[in-house]
Amino acid sequence: MASPRSPVTARTQVVIVGAGPAGLLLSHLLHLRGIESVVLEARSREYVEHRVRAGVLEQGTVDTLVNSGAGERLLHEGLVHHGIELRFGGAGHRIAFEKLVPGRAITVYGQQEVVKDLIAARLAAGGDIRFEVSDVELDGIDGERPAVSFRNTSGRTTIEADFIAGCDGFHGVCRDAIPPGVLRFFDKEYPFGWLGALAAVAPSSDELIYASNERGFALHSMRSPEVSRFYLQVAPDEDIAAWPDQRIWDELAARLETVPGWKLSTGPLIEKGVTAMRSFVTEPMQFGRLFLAGDAAHIVPPTGAKGLNLAAFDVTVLTEALAEWYASGDSALLDGYSRTCLRRVWRVQHFSWWMTTLLHTFEHYDAYDRRLQESYLDYVCSSDAASTSLAENYVGLERAVR
Ligand code: FAD
Ligand code: PHB
Repeated sequence: MASPRSPVTARTQVVIVGAGPAGLLLSHLLHLRGIESVVLEARSREYVEHRVRAGVLEQGTVDTLVNSGAGERLLHEGLVHHGIELRFGGAGHRIAFEKLVPGRAITVYGQQEVVKDLIAARLAAGGDIRFEVSDVELDGIDGERPAVSFRNTSGRTTIEADFIAGCDGFHGVCRDAIPPGVLRFFDKEYPFGWLGALAAVAPSSDELIYASNERGFALHSMRSPEVSRFYLQVAPDEDIAAWPDQRIWDELAARLETVPGWKLSTGPLIEKGVTAMRSFVTEPMQFGRLFLAGDAAHIVPPTGAKGLNLAAFDVTVLTEALAEWYASGDSALLDGYSRTCLRRVWRVQHFSWWMTTLLHTFEHYDAYDRRLQESYLDYVCSSDAASTSLAENYVGLERAVR
């Protein structure tokens, strides 16, 4: 039996658990629709503003941020890219967005910069974000008065709301608040992880390079004209202590310097870490008055650069649905939230899995499997039909194709 609810100490319209991109963008978009929210975050503001993660924004994500008034710095500092390079077999092959998907591009802008911009926008508008909360518990999610209680320096607080948004990432508590038997999970683990490194050195390329190499996959990305971002395929449980900076540079050079004349510039590493890779989907993404969004509901391997973009998509759908409910009492969009999101979630799941299997080295592959992979890479880069498919998924399918 559920324990009795602690005394209600506050009330709002929507309690949002998690101040990652999903929670912050949702709070910001709801505010623009006149809907009040409180955001609860386990970590400090300093921590979430400096957590290095994603870097590639789809056009749709950029449009959402810019149209909502939170995109001013992004427009100034974001790097607009019109193509990416796939590097394999001793040559670079450009996927030219301007030719394949005219008028569409990606913007390279760090996730922590998006987080900083959204926190600034919320606080400037008088928004309520509580950092460093603990012991978050959800109550009454199947009724009309759900509540969230938590502890912080002011003691224990219970906030009652109309709705709860679970934007607390893969390791959050919201998904587990849904009774057993309601959700179905789809899961795939990959036999590798990514070692990510941020370096204080100008990028060695104008565009991102995705390199398929028999030593393992490597990615050259960037954050600014002075800062580069790199990833190396490693074992999923790789110990970062085994990777002194010089080893990282040597391995990046071995996997990236495969094109005659191309040299990798090196410099001091600012940050490094290992992330395991998985695919994961929760169905449905809602129960009663609780709605899951972003990594709380689904995870993709980062090869397609999609996680943050999908999180942004979910919360735009949720904003429309909540706005409709508050304006007219009509719950049709809220009822259809999962269905609407999951169509795009599964497209992105497929694309991210596909990019991952196309570009990584699998230990269990035999010579035949490797030839198939080489042949497919060759096809993707030499056929307009195949490279258009990659390009349109990479820049982000139009919203009509949910
Ligand atoms: P999160 O960012 O995980 O935010 C959840 C928040 O909830 C966190 O701040 C957490 O502290 C908080 N929280 C957790 N539990 C609780 C609790 N109990 N109470 C309160 N708060 C809680 N995506 C892209 O689109 N493009 C890329 O290029 C890309 N590259 C990536 C590279 C790497 C190495 C990794 C790891 C990820 C990458 N991603 C990329 C994925 C992207 O970073 C995530 O999909 C994105 O962070 C999801 O946002 P979110 O708000 O749903 O979750
Ligand atoms: C990044 O810059 O962090 C990045 C870029 C492309 C990816 C993943 C991560 O596919």
